[in-house]
Amino acid sequence: MNLPDLKKAKVRSNEEVKTIKATNLKSNKFAGKKYYLRTYGCQMNVHDSEEIKGILSNLGFISTENYEDADIIVLNTCAIRENAHDKVFGFLGRVKHLKKEKPELIVAVGGCMPQQEGVANTLKEKYPFVNIVFGTHNINDLGKMIMEGSNKQDIEVYSIEGDIYEEIQYKRDSKYEAWVNIMYGCDKFCTYCIVPYTRGKQRSRAMNDILEEVKDLKKKGYLEVTLLGQNVNAYGKDLKQGYDFATLLEEVAKIGIPRVRFVTSHPWDFTDEMIEVIAKYENIMPYIHLPLQSGSSKILKLMGRRYTKEEYLTLYNKIKERIPGVSITTDIIVGFPNETDEDFQETLDVVNKCKFDGAFTFIYSPREGTPAALIKDNIASEVKEERLQTLNTIINDYSLEHNKEYVGKTVKVLITGYSDKGVDKVCGYTETMKLVNISGAKEDIGKIVEVKITEAKSFSLDGEKIIFSNI
Ligand code: 5AD
Ligand code: SF4
Repeated sequence: MNLPDLKKAKVRSNEEVKTIKATNLKSNKFAGKKYYLRTYGCQMNVHDSEEIKGILSNLGFISTENYEDADIIVLNTCAIRENAHDKVFGFLGRVKHLKKEKPELIVAVGGCMPQQEGVANTLKEKYPFVNIVFGTHNINDLGKMIMEGSNKQDIEVYSIEGDIYEEIQYKRDSKYEAWVNIMYGCDKFCTYCIVPYTRGKQRSRAMNDILEEVKDLKKKGYLEVTLLGQNVNAYGKDLKQGYDFATLLEEVAKIGIPRVRFVTSHPWDFTDEMIEVIAKYENIMPYIHLPLQSGSSKILKLMGRRYTKEEYLTLYNKIKERIPGVSITTDIIVGFPNETDEDFQETLDVVNKCKFDGAFTFIYSPREGTPAALIKDNIASEVKEERLQTLNTIINDYSLEHNKEYVGKTVKVLITGYSDKGVDKVCGYTETMKLVNISGAKEDIGKIVEVKITEAKSFSLDGEKIIFSNI
């Protein structure tokens, strides 16, 4: 089979995609066979994997946690940093051995990696045992590709997004918390970021479709929804229907689901109206993930982030003032090309001023095809490592400091399942997105309960369920 030329790759109309779904989705052909699905990367991928699980279930597959037991292995990949690639290729090495023992095993690789120029070629040449390759724009082709047979290498990746498909049959991981896509792709083109290339231009879902999905989730008993997008604050801009993220958030809150969250926010698109809506509704959780990326205005400019250090701080302070008790986390990249010690000190200055509740910190990783990859990566790796360590120490200290403020307080926790901190423990998140491990309370999985916090750690809290008594 010929490799797709990504520049000319096939684009299907919505109608065509609908026909494929309607004719191929349901089958008993694989009844009782097992699938192993491994997901790399962000929440968007985690949610896409719920779509993949829906497709596999519709073909009769059941899930297994052990890849050696599987009849089909599906890898939903990530391309955001080089180490994401390394992990996938590392795992494929193990799958290669398994395939020798089990030649009938189907191996499928999808998600962001195949959307990158050259990856499909690499898979074809170096990993010929991979049977199916699909991208982010045609996840719904997976069912058809599996049905068509596994004794060949089937590669189908579209370079263009096509229309939004509204009838996805998700198999959701949780009965209590649900992801809801409000948009796909991203138009921000931060200079280091591969996402606008792997996920395409921004496409917002129509507000009514989102509201219908949330209403349906409420009917099914879900207690929490997280509105999902690469840049939720830009929601609606591409639709030009006169509504924006503030409108959507308010309408979702009015549906009355107990907890509404959203990720990820971009400071540039964050308006005062959005802050007011978050402040106004009790069921919009006081938690905002607000990526900083760098504290140096010079580096922010090179990153194409469209705000300065001062503008970020102004927004941060406004949010803190208007939403009492809000917790704010961030993303920070160290070692972007031309980042001097002074630039790094600017980042530390912002961290010291904001005292974030938590942060995901990364060493810059050049992504081929992005504008930043053309700038010489001129920071020595020891310097990058050292900056990361320095930053992490400060971040963790603030995180612990925030967590300590909770000790002795009573907070509401949605208990989502068993904790890995002991057999008799369950866990869940506070409204401010703090992880709490709780003794006992097994019968409370799937409920929002009041918990007294007894101990603080850097990355979690310990607590006890409050037992109300009439005595
Ligand atoms: N190198 C390092 N980190 C990156 N991120 C995105 N692209 C890169 C890159 N090329 C980080 C950003 C983003 C998070 C999801 O990943 O901080 O917010
Ligand atoms: Fe990437 Fe920037 Fe879009 Fe976030 S806003 S997905 S960092 S391009």
